[in-house]
Amino acid sequence: MTRILLGISASAAVAKAADLASKLRQAGHEVNVVLTPNAAELISAQLLEALTGRPVHVSEYGPNRRCAMDHIELARKTELLLIAPATADLIGQLAAGLAPNLLTTLSLAIPADVPRVLIPAMNPFMYAQPAVQRNLKTLASDGWRVEEPATGEVACGDEGPGRFLETHEVLRRLGDLLGA
Ligand SMILES: Cc1cc2nc3c(=O)[nH]c(=O)nc-3n(C[C@H](O)[C@H](O)[C@H](O)COP(=O)(O)O)c2cc1C
Repeated sequence: MTRILLGISASAAVAKAADLASKLRQAGHEVNVVLTPNAAELISAQLLEALTGRPVHVSEYGPNRRCAMDHIELARKTELLLIAPATADLIGQLAAGLAPNLLTTLSLAIPADVPRVLIPAMNPFMYAQPAVQRNLKTLASDGWRVEEPATGEVACGDEGPGRFLETHEVLRRLGDLLGA
């Protein structure tokens, strides 16, 4: 059993992320979901709580916070940080070391020896942008494992690299980290 912190950002692939969360739980892992505030506009925290059996976190401020300092509490427990799907925006924030929300703050607070994996999902034109590719290279050299997205049709109908991986492919690629 691995204690996974599953970070979900605001991509059209949030529905696939819900399936991923469910399959990880079924495989016996503890899945703690953190949504960016924008992702919480696209998918319900309640659904993810039902699928994972765990509280879902969005902000460490206000009435919905879980502890006095959620970013420290969650970071301490995490054995694998998996950000899937990762938007172009979130990738840029992580590459710059910015921490405007709970997920980005947590990503900085997690100890350096905890494996961190990022699976991008975006329109192929976004994925091909030099700024996005530069940010991904920065994250890889900072120790992130950056998985290549699939090539194919994305939600808006464009085709190319940037499509979020299917759940079975995520589980296959992360087999070494998930004890499979
Ligand atoms: C329905 C919808 C789908 C989106 N899908 C993506 C996506 O797959 N990848 C991406 O980089 N941005 C996507 N965006 C744009 C991001 O949501 C936007 O850049 C946002 O600022 C990202 O916020 P976050 O990184 O804090 O979650 C989408 C927006 C909407 C409304």
